[in-house]
Order: sequence, then C-alpha cells, then structure tokens
Amino acid sequence: MIISFVNGKGGAGKTTTAILVAMALREAGHAAAVRDLDPQRTATRWLSDQPELLDTAAPIQLLDTPPRLESATVADAIRQADSVIVVSRPSPCDLFTSQDTAALVSKLRALDKTRLLFTNVREKTILARGLDQTAQEIGIKPLKVHLQLREAYQHAVLAGWKALTQEAREEVGRVALAIVTVLH
Ligand SMILES: Nc1ncnc2c1ncn2[C@@H]1O[C@H](COP(=O)(O)OP(=O)(O)O)[C@@H](O)[C@H]1O
Ligand SMILES: [Mg+2]
Repeated sequence: MIISFVNGKGGAGKTTTAILVAMALREAGHAAAVRDLDPQRTATRWLSDQPELLDTAAPIQLLDTPPRLESATVADAIRQADSVIVVSRPSPCDLFTSQDTAALVSKLRALDKTRLLFTNVREKTILARGLDQTAQEIGIKPLKVHLQLREAYQHAVLAGWKALTQEAREEVGRVALAIVTVLH
C-alpha cells in the first residue's frame, strides 16, 4: 500500500504529516513507515532515533516527496500511489502552489483516491473558517479532518508519539483513519 504526500512548495508540511500519520498507524497496529524520496533527506535525519519509522519493508509506505513538481520522483510517486494526499497550509500564499500540485496530480491520474489535507491550521481564524472555499479553489476534495498548528508536532517528529498530548494524538489518529478510509 502506497500513500504519497505531495505539494510543490517546501514547508507545506509533507514530511511532518507523513511522519505523524506513520506514527498514528503504527499506534493503531498497522505496519507503516515513511519512505524518504527527498534528496534533502529531512525525514531520514529527523527519524534517526526512530529507524522503525523508515522500514522500507513495511506494508504501508508513506512517500515523502521533494517540493519540486517538475521532478520525475514526484511524478512517479503520484503515479504509483494507491492514494495521493496533497498537503497544504490554508494560507493564500500557498494557494498557487497547491493549485499547481492539483493540476499535476490530475494530469497523471484520476482524482478519486486523491484528497487535500490542510495542516498548520489555527482554529477560529478567518483562514480556518475558509477551508472549504480554499479547497474548492485548489480543486481537490478535502478530507473532513485537518491538522492544527501545534508545536508538539515539531517535537514528535524527533521525539516520537510520546511527545504528543492526548488531544494531539486523537487529532492525528482521526487524520490517519480518514486517509486509510480513502483507500476503501
Ligand atoms: N501541523 C504543524 N504544526 C506545527 N508545525 C508544523 C506543522 N506541520 C509542519 N510544521 C513545521 O513546518 C515546517 C515545514 O514542515 P515540513 O514538514 O518540513 O514541510 P515540507 O516537508 O512540505 O517541506 C517545519 O519546521 C515543521 O516543523
Ligand atoms: Mg519535506
């Protein structure tokens, strides 16, 4: 099972999200791991203390892709995936790259197993209230759940699941479940 996390912009949250989702799936008893396709090797470096999260033999592979839409690696990751997750911040500055990412995905495959996942969301802000509108402008069906902006997520990629509060664990768990549900 291959799930690819894509966005042409660096800083969108691909690596963080792929790692968090891998952790949540493992907590739920599924053998999931991140496959680091970015030449910058961010996931590999962040996970140096959690090598099990990089297990290339795990049946569920979460592909962390480089922020370059012209890259053959990204095209391959989109084509070979069972599901594609376009990761985006809700900010208007990220809209254009997310639209370009959506256009690339729709050029390469049918969109039925592609979803938009917002991350770095601050609840009760204008941007958080406008997620549905932003998703429409990006042109990809959004998951019904998203990830908030939480400092704990930055710690968890280095320190593991235990760095998360119960509330944060539940949020990531809901996102992981929503992603897996797309495949069924
Ligand atoms: N939900 C989040 N809450 C807080 N910080 C986040 C969140 N997602 C990503 N970040 C931070 O934003 C920055 C970019 O995230 P990253 O996952 O490296 O993006 P990408 O892989 O798309 O370049 C990193 O510093 C990361 O710690
Ligand atoms: Mg990255």
